[in-house]
Amino acid sequence: MKADIGLIGLAVMGQNLVLNMIDHGYTVAVYNRTVSKVDAFVEEANRNDALIGCHSIEELVEALQKPRKIILMVKAGSPVDDFINQLVPLLEKGDIIIDGGNSHYLDTIRRTKFLEEQGILFVGTGISGGEEGARHGPAIMPGGSKDAWPLIKPIFQDIAAKVDGVPCCEWMGPDGAGHYVKMVHNGIEYADMQLISEAYHLLRYYMKLDVDQISDIFAEWNQGKLKSYLIEITSDILKVKDEDGLPLIDKVLDAAGQKGTGKWTAISSLELGVPTTLITTAVYQRFLSALKDTRVEAASKIKDVDHEEITESSKIDEDFINHLQEALYASKIVAYSQGFQLLSQASKEYNWDLNLGTIALIWRGGCIIRSAFLNKIKEVHDQNPHFEHLILETFFLKKVEMALPSLRKVVMKALSTGIPVPAFAAALTWLDSFRSKYLPANLIQAQRDYFGAHGFERIDYPRGTSFHVNWQEKLKTMKK
Ligand code: 6PG
Repeated sequence: MKADIGLIGLAVMGQNLVLNMIDHGYTVAVYNRTVSKVDAFVEEANRNDALIGCHSIEELVEALQKPRKIILMVKAGSPVDDFINQLVPLLEKGDIIIDGGNSHYLDTIRRTKFLEEQGILFVGTGISGGEEGARHGPAIMPGGSKDAWPLIKPIFQDIAAKVDGVPCCEWMGPDGAGHYVKMVHNGIEYADMQLISEAYHLLRYYMKLDVDQISDIFAEWNQGKLKSYLIEITSDILKVKDEDGLPLIDKVLDAAGQKGTGKWTAISSLELGVPTTLITTAVYQRFLSALKDTRVEAASKIKDVDHEEITESSKIDEDFINHLQEALYASKIVAYSQGFQLLSQASKEYNWDLNLGTIALIWRGGCIIRSAFLNKIKEVHDQNPHFEHLILETFFLKKVEMALPSLRKVVMKALSTGIPVPAFAAALTWLDSFRSKYLPANLIQAQRDYFGAHGFERIDYPRGTSFHVNWQEKLKTMKK
């Protein structure tokens, strides 16, 4: 019997996807560059005829039903191109290669074009949810050669997470659309994580609460409007103790890693001119955290207000905790609003025709940023599919209006006590800028015109008319 689908790359994500597909009744052929891993996996999985181990790419291609469908679960970058190059001579027109890694969307655009020119269909798909998600239901964001979608849809939607019976997997759009959407998902994930960490920091160092108390607060927040996977795991993490009975979190080095998707989101937002300040701030803050040694040195040299001495936990200030919850909610709205703005701009730039409602729909389950909140975005999109900015839609507008004073209180408190809250502050300053009728950009325009004759528009003339003034001359004439 021939397999329904093939998979190359048996690291944990790959293995779990295979087991997930088998659980849903599919027969899967597998191959891995280190061939011994194939035999070990087949033996351990013990799935009889549903799992076919292959010792070469040729064998894998031979084991598949036509049109062949092959998922690559290999490291993003050149390994993807290597496998594509090995597969192409063995495949026939109409066969499908699927890249399930976190590839850069520009690579996916290039690969789609290259493979379609040879009659091979290519799908670049985001898969979110980590190892657990891959095993029991991830969110899947496929894009690329549209003709591939009807052929892979049943498998993909079967293995995806479901929310209210709706699969967290839909077609995103042409070429790089799927990988772009996954990239922005990760960018938002960075912002969410940074905000949660800042809330934790304030609870720990401003409120002086102990780790168990903070865990309880996150557990409580997880019952309300902040209900989400990331809040839930934060509460779990804070409960875990090391061998000596002390919180394990205190043993974890405070230097964040990153694989690049957040940085790519920030770069894309700069290229497209979309101010996604929370994502960008979160990326910078990971870099800053990684400068651990320098920070330790700076801590001993730049003296000011000092919050780092943890003292006995004081009594819980419910008021501040409520403000913090509101601040987190307001900032989350800003982060998502910015992220969706970026998606909307990229959709125009690359002609992807992204459906923002569908994206919110499939992010409700399976993925790392899954939350109750995404239901709201979907509802808002249903009411007005052409919204210009999420934050200007009635539901979110009201929420932000209510939460803004709390965000301001929290940021002011943090600034005065020296606790760094770059993401909260970015949310607040973005909001204050966004709702400003006047910004000092007039002065920037005047400076540009002064030193570079770049021209400026005047408020008393129609937009688009450019003026230039010789500012020095004008000054001289005025002095006469
Ligand atoms: C997901 C995650 C996943 C992974 C990232 C983390 O959606 O399942 O986002 O893609 O955890 O690689 O990226 P960083 O290492 O950059 O934090």
